[in-house]
Amino acid sequence: MTIQAEHPAHGSQAEEKKNVHTEETSELVLAKDRTFKAPESNAFGQSFRDYDIESERQKGVEEFYRLQHINQTHDFVKKMREHYKKLDKAEMSIWECCELLNEVVDDSDPDLDEPQIQHLLQTAETIRKDYPNEDWLHLTALIHDLGKILHLPQFGDTFPVGCAFDEKNVHHKYFKENPDSKNPAYNTKDGVYSKGCGLDNVLMSWGHDDYMYMVAKENGTTLPSPGLFIIRYHSFYPLHKEGAYTHLMSEEDFKNLKWLHIFNKYDLYSKSKVLVDVEKVKPYYQSLIDKYFPAKLKW
Ligand SMILES: [Fe+2]
Ligand SMILES: [Fe+2]
Repeated sequence: MTIQAEHPAHGSQAEEKKNVHTEETSELVLAKDRTFKAPESNAFGQSFRDYDIESERQKGVEEFYRLQHINQTHDFVKKMREHYKKLDKAEMSIWECCELLNEVVDDSDPDLDEPQIQHLLQTAETIRKDYPNEDWLHLTALIHDLGKILHLPQFGDTFPVGCAFDEKNVHHKYFKENPDSKNPAYNTKDGVYSKGCGLDNVLMSWGHDDYMYMVAKENGTTLPSPGLFIIRYHSFYPLHKEGAYTHLMSEEDFKNLKWLHIFNKYDLYSKSKVLVDVEKVKPYYQSLIDKYFPAKLKW
């Protein structure tokens, strides 16, 4: 299995893989009604997704966003999609991809440095406890970040290109240097889109979300629409946290957004020092992979 990651290099490199230990230091917090209760601080003792706190890690995160906001133009995204849509970079199963992702630490995430496979399994296992019958949601949680295998630097929040950058985007000031901000075709509220056109028709900034959505679709997944919606828009914080860009949404988008709101809580707050026993839960997730995906996928 070989991966070829060719892409314009900007942004910082993924950090070295951290040593995994299985010592239990704390318990995931589950409220009495079995609804997951979010802890108030992350592994660094700070509130989650706080992009303003001064720290070395925050500076790296801010620099990441500065470069992302300048470089993600409508033209750039179209080129990246065309390049990766060939799916000629690798052939592997979903589980092989989960294991490969263990090498990656996300520079855009200010909350934690655990290996990604733990983030995937912690998200999936926590959501599974609260929604035991929605097996598609367990699998969606497991695979939502697999697009990160390309070591792309563009892991941050996502946003539409081809229309004005909403001020609700984190570090919005850096969009001033994005050439699309000065292009009258792209800098109006609707830009190249029309009201209610549906997010499927909107070009999103290029990153692991859209890449994984593309991989799932092109390989013929049978995951239901809200699963695919979660995969494509889970980093679209300007929409699901701030309520921006809703003028582009279709009726189906609004229905799917409810599942994304549920999912986001688990994506963010299930990050924990309690590591999931990978071998123990693997058979369950393998059965879901078999149900919704072919044995080998093109990446
Ligand atoms: Fe993600
Ligand atoms: Fe995630």
